[in-house]
Amino acid sequence: IEETLVLVKPDGVARGLTGAILARIEAKGYALVDIRLVEPDRETLERHYAEHEGKPFYEPLLEFMMSGPSVAIRLAGNRVIEGFRSLAGTTDPTTAAPGTVRGDFGRDWGLKVQQNLVHGSDSPESAARELEIWFG
Ligand code: GTP
Ligand code: MG
Repeated sequence: IEETLVLVKPDGVARGLTGAILARIEAKGYALVDIRLVEPDRETLERHYAEHEGKPFYEPLLEFMMSGPSVAIRLAGNRVIEGFRSLAGTTDPTTAAPGTVRGDFGRDWGLKVQQNLVHGSDSPESAARELEIWFG
């Protein structure tokens, strides 16, 4: 069975949307294998976001991800990587489709980094790498 890493990012936790996001995940039928509240250090985030190093939003992204706790979830199910990305919606919350987490709950706050509520691994390779980083 496939697994993915889902994060409810600091904006989702701070806005009290963890339950609403989990409800959608559970209603879809995916299995919670492990879940915990995390306050990642910079080194953890540098590993997680290595592909974005050097991009203009990289530093603001790390700062944002250190601004408060996130909820890390090990999620399992058939085609869960693709399925959760579909639930999450596209990266830009302003134009993410209604019905998705980002489309329903997210918008542009005029900040340096897009605050789009959730993260989901984008491939089996990313999922394995990221699950190791967040759950060991
Ligand atoms: P994740 O599931 O969080 O990885 O989102 P994603 O796969 O849809 O986006 P990506 O991996 O490309 O970028 C990671 C995060 O960086 C995004 O979720 C945003 O928070 C932020 N980000 C990505 N692209 C931009 C951008 O063009 N501008 C800004 N300001 N932030 C961005
Ligand atoms: Mg990504």
